Amino acid sequence: MKTKRISDKVEKALNDQMTREAYQAQVYLSYASWAECNSYAGIATFLYKHAHEEREHMFKFIKYINDRGGKTKIEAIKAPPADPKDMEECLKNVLKHEIDNSAAIDAIVNLAHEEKDWATFNFGQWFVKEQIEEESLANDLLDKFSLASKVVGNNANLYEMDKDLSSAPQGATIPQEEKF
Ligand SMILES: [Fe+2]
Ligand SMILES: [Fe+2]
Repeated sequence: MKTKRISDKVEKALNDQMTREAYQAQVYLSYASWAECNSYAGIATFLYKHAHEEREHMFKFIKYINDRGGKTKIEAIKAPPADPKDMEECLKNVLKHEIDNSAAIDAIVNLAHEEKDWATFNFGQWFVKEQIEEESLANDLLDKFSLASKVVGNNANLYEMDKDLSSAPQGATIPQEEKF
């Protein structure tokens, strides 16, 4: 049994964020499946991988809470929102989710700073940096899509973009690639 080295307030904030990362994964899973059914195979692969990455974030929170002698609470994950009406809305929502998530991470870092909990402050920095990358990735996706969809009546650009995204790097594997 480890000595508890985080306050109840920090423990709660970390648990809430752990569940939020799981929710993010559900959102990306639902968008990935929607994209797959709408013939965007490349974007679907990208989003499936991203769902997996969000679950890796969730694991980081579990590990940290437990390492600091806290108690991880696995709770119900709320359902993702309704399917987007088109790809533009899908990608705009991806960016919005990432920006909202950055705000939630910032709140944890703020709390850690207030409490002079430097271990949590340091832990949070990894996520601050990660969110810069994630927002940038979501912005790039949206930009690429805007460019690719500019020519009315010509879907060749969109097709190329979709192909391109199936191999875009992001450091996570999709469940089909896992070796259990
Ligand atoms: Fe995340
Ligand atoms: Fe994310």
